Amino acid sequence: MEINKENLSLEDKNRFVQFQIWRDCPVGCEFCYNKNITPTVSKIENLKWIESLIENEPIVNEYNEIGLIGGETFSKELSDRSVREEFYGLIQLIISKMKEGKVEKLYLTTSLIFKDNWNLLEVLEKFKEENLENKILICTSYDTKYRFKNENSLKFWENNILEIHRQYNKVPIHVETIITQDFCEKVLRGEFSITHFREKYDVHVDYIEASINDNSKTLEEFNRKLPGFLPERKTFFRFLDFVRLNNLVDWDSFFNYNLHSDLMFIEHKGERLVFDGRRKGNERLLKWYATERLGRSLYTACYSDNYRSILEDVKAYKELHGLGVK
Ligand SMILES: C[S@@+](CC[C@H](N)C(=O)[O-])C[C@H]1O[C@@H](n2cnc3c(N)ncnc32)[C@H](O)[C@@H]1O
Ligand code: SF4
Repeated sequence: MEINKENLSLEDKNRFVQFQIWRDCPVGCEFCYNKNITPTVSKIENLKWIESLIENEPIVNEYNEIGLIGGETFSKELSDRSVREEFYGLIQLIISKMKEGKVEKLYLTTSLIFKDNWNLLEVLEKFKEENLENKILICTSYDTKYRFKNENSLKFWENNILEIHRQYNKVPIHVETIITQDFCEKVLRGEFSITHFREKYDVHVDYIEASINDNSKTLEEFNRKLPGFLPERKTFFRFLDFVRLNNLVDWDSFFNYNLHSDLMFIEHKGERLVFDGRRKGNERLLKWYATERLGRSLYTACYSDNYRSILEDVKAYKELHGLGVK
């Protein structure tokens, strides 16, 4: 596991390191890049690895923001007593780093698709008791087609958003939305209002590109499996024009690489992998997600009808219209 310091963005004010605690997730989104990857290392072993990185890895100590991502963390995953104890060991470690002033923020990523929310609320309560509630950020996701498989799952998500706001009003919620074909069409037809969504749930919305990280052999095969997921190039540009003309997105953060963690640790098939320099742009992201590393036959963030890179297109679009930070 080699980390090349030259690739890191250690000069940034927010230096964000992320750990994948495990991939298990009961939600089963068809598009998910974690789909069908069976764990080889136990949750406890993985948590211990993360704790040792936070305690002993000098480069990790240069980061002032930590993210924990799954899979899912808060549905049933913490019901095993030993996993729970180890997880709270990690939380306690992060709390002590916060108290020492070394960690300023913790990103907790969750689907929020569960009825029983006490596992999540208990963690938030712990930070509240320590007066560190304002250092938490909840990151969740929304999708107009594949994520919410029935009315209940959407209700659970909504209830959990409202409950977090009600009980932990200092904890902001970020929602990541993949720009799928279905999402573009619904926005363009006026069936999905970005403004209404933001106001209704009192959330900040970030956008991410749809990507294929899957065992399909070709783009066509992937499209057949997941119609309406990857956007058509023409529709995507109509979407960009629409949100630009109606002033619906914050161009500074729109597809900004700084939304990514700079350094990310994951376990894959028993191997410890580190993705460094994720803020340095598309080339490096592609390098890390390259098919042979993660054992996928196809990785790309392109359109349903065109292999061009969505990320490169957005970069060119922002430059053309003078949008976002220079
Ligand atoms: C793997 S999930 C883990 C966290 C949590 N379970 C969730 O869904 O928010 C992290 C993010 O990856 C996104 N994601 C998963 N598969 C994707 C794909 N094929 N293309 C783009 N984003 C994807 C999800 O929508 C989510 O926003
Ligand atoms: S909720 Fe997140 S981790 Fe779970 S399947 Fe969906 S995208 Fe993947």
